[in-house]
Amino acid sequence: MNYGYFDEKAREYVITNPNTPAPWANYLGSPDYGAIVTVNAGGYSFVKSGAAGRILRYTFNQFDEPGRYIYLRDEETGDFWSASWKPVAKPLDTYKSECHHGTSYTEIISEYNGIRSRVLYYVPMGATHEVWRVSLENLTDRERKISVFGYCEFTTESLYTQDLVNLQYTQFITKTEFHDTFLLEQINEFNYPRPDGTTGRERFFGLAGAKVASYTGRREQFLGRSRFDKPQAVVDGKCDNSLNYNGNPCGALQFSAALKPGEKTTAAFLLGQKTVFEAKEIVDRYAQTAETVDKELQELIAYWHGELANLKITTPDKNFDTMVNTWNAFQCFITFVWSRAASLMYCGERNGYGYRDTVQDIQGIMHLDPELARQQLTFMLSAQVHHGAGLPLVKFTHNAGHEDTPEQDSYVKATGHPSYRADDALWLFPTVYKYIAETGNTAYLDEEIPFADKDVGTVREHLKRAINFSMTHLGPHGMPAGLHADWNDCLQLGAKGESTFVAFQLYYALIIMKEFCANEPEYVKYLDETAENLLKILNEQCFEGDRFIRGFREDGVVIGSKKDNEANMWLNPQSWAVISRGATAEQAEAILNTACEKLNTPYGLEVMQPSYRYEYFEGARMRLFNPGTKENGGIFCQPQGWAILAEALCGHGNRAFQYFQESSPASFNDDADRRVIEPYVHGQFIEGHESPFAGRSHVHWLTGTASTVMVGCVEGILGLRPTPAGIEISPAIPQEWDGFTMEKVFRGKKLHITVDNSAHKEGKPAKVILNGVERAAGVIPADELREENDITVVM
Ligand code: NOJ
Repeated sequence: MNYGYFDEKAREYVITNPNTPAPWANYLGSPDYGAIVTVNAGGYSFVKSGAAGRILRYTFNQFDEPGRYIYLRDEETGDFWSASWKPVAKPLDTYKSECHHGTSYTEIISEYNGIRSRVLYYVPMGATHEVWRVSLENLTDRERKISVFGYCEFTTESLYTQDLVNLQYTQFITKTEFHDTFLLEQINEFNYPRPDGTTGRERFFGLAGAKVASYTGRREQFLGRSRFDKPQAVVDGKCDNSLNYNGNPCGALQFSAALKPGEKTTAAFLLGQKTVFEAKEIVDRYAQTAETVDKELQELIAYWHGELANLKITTPDKNFDTMVNTWNAFQCFITFVWSRAASLMYCGERNGYGYRDTVQDIQGIMHLDPELARQQLTFMLSAQVHHGAGLPLVKFTHNAGHEDTPEQDSYVKATGHPSYRADDALWLFPTVYKYIAETGNTAYLDEEIPFADKDVGTVREHLKRAINFSMTHLGPHGMPAGLHADWNDCLQLGAKGESTFVAFQLYYALIIMKEFCANEPEYVKYLDETAENLLKILNEQCFEGDRFIRGFREDGVVIGSKKDNEANMWLNPQSWAVISRGATAEQAEAILNTACEKLNTPYGLEVMQPSYRYEYFEGARMRLFNPGTKENGGIFCQPQGWAILAEALCGHGNRAFQYFQESSPASFNDDADRRVIEPYVHGQFIEGHESPFAGRSHVHWLTGTASTVMVGCVEGILGLRPTPAGIEISPAIPQEWDGFTMEKVFRGKKLHITVDNSAHKEGKPAKVILNGVERAAGVIPADELREENDITVVM
């Protein structure tokens, strides 16, 4: 079943059938004001934090309600419908609808009863209010009188859980006021107001470009005894101009439009957390609604298309192009901004940045906006504790140099995170490396950055302390202890259990650090000896000929041995043995073949197999999940990116691309009922072969899959591998491809890249022609690049 298509020219996903298997969503806004909107206008808005700055209500895991609703009513017949198919849900044989999800804007275009409506939802650049621009067009040959109702449901408190569960308090703290062109919600109105009488907690819902005909601030008045599909006020044709005082506030405004045949009209509903003065100023600003909105929309599109412009690929595979050029890239920016804090699955409870997640997310935008990436990287370096570990959760209010740590009850109470993860700070190494390689800014290593609790050090010193943290938290075999968790949140190995995944991460860190500390021979000697010793342990203790084990339990028992009945093959140690350069070429061939044979499915590689059912240990918390689900043998989508990269690094273009296609959202566009979530963004996991719903995907948008698959595609399949010295272009592609082209901006210089695969190889290019001069394949030094470069890579 297909519900829509990719419009790559407009960089939009267009949903042509609004009855999607799940609420297919989009993100609007910025770090200061976020909004999630679905194909049927469901979703919610928040200021900074979905947990602590919630403005609009949304019932998770339900009917995609409430939302930002526009109701239209034919004043002659009393017939009414919504400008998004739901909530009124007119029969789809009489109601046409298209939802255009673009880069931070969504437009829903519908036709019913001879009226075309276009509702554009967006947050203007740099603004902390949202706009719902409504355009109506009379497609009939007679005059039409149409009433338009805009509706939103305010929370009674910015703290989401308070509004949801502490009703004996929150039902008695709000009231609404009407101010000519807008409704204003007051919360704790008399609680220490400012000198100007405002509190800063106010929310407004306003109308520009049309006159308010009626209004209500009372949800129960707007809905009556009905739900959102037939609200009483719309049935009645007007609101009763009542205002809430206690109970449930809402914003409901009505205006009337008389349209001659073919005539159009435009107005805009406006929403935000603003004082009475700010609200009036904003509503007045939209008096010339159509012009103002068009200008703001162009600014928004120009910004986002500009952010995506550093790389444009044209390959034989359109799905691959649209994911790399637009949707995976846009999703990377969304995870970069919102981490795992607010989606239709993450209800906003996570009130801060997960350390590993956020450092990984930075990698996803590195090739598009390295300076924006550096800002977040510096922030995350300042969230590293003086002894080298990363703070498991970094508060939105992080104050470097003054933060508590898991060693203190205050931190554990505030964040719920009692101890360190073995992997968190190790993600800094590939991320710092990618920043320096993408920009050439080696001076960054000397930049002074505070630690979270105390001390200040250069970036290089921060990295040294991260290595020191790992080296002072080793287990009995001399490998890093797994501590509270490694990448796998469900694998708790403690201080004595040891993780092969982290061991390969540490090995990679040691390799990278040698390059960063080339002028410190003593330290390089230490790095060499440590790396050699670690690899010796990995090969002697962890390699079983066709796979690396997953690690050791606290009691020393092996995890992931081929002798085990359950969980005897794990994906990540294999991928990371290759990515870290720890595996020999022979080992790489063997372990990647085993991974393909034991873990691959039509929908991607399972994270381990067989799932735990009976033979688990205390630290194997994935046992809590149904087999074939999430960390318990599911197809965890983030590791697909590492598998793609590992295969590509070995020149296995066919398999690298096969793995891309198997779990790529776009591959499910014509099988959307199987996937369920959006076909334009990655999910966290896909149910594996042990599930009766194999192929069904979950946890949309906010997942590390975005950045890791992006790196797998850009550095792996496309082979764009910047180094501090320059850039290597070493694609790993399907043999049947004749070739492809790429437009890349590298350190401000334009690279027009043509990959010639008339030899129909799958990897390891033979030579490169730079501006007409032939050279061996390998790194092109940055200082040999001109402002504009023609590069041909001959496979
Ligand atoms: C989701 C978490 O956000 C991420 O940090 C973790 O690595 C994966 N689950 C795997 O457990």
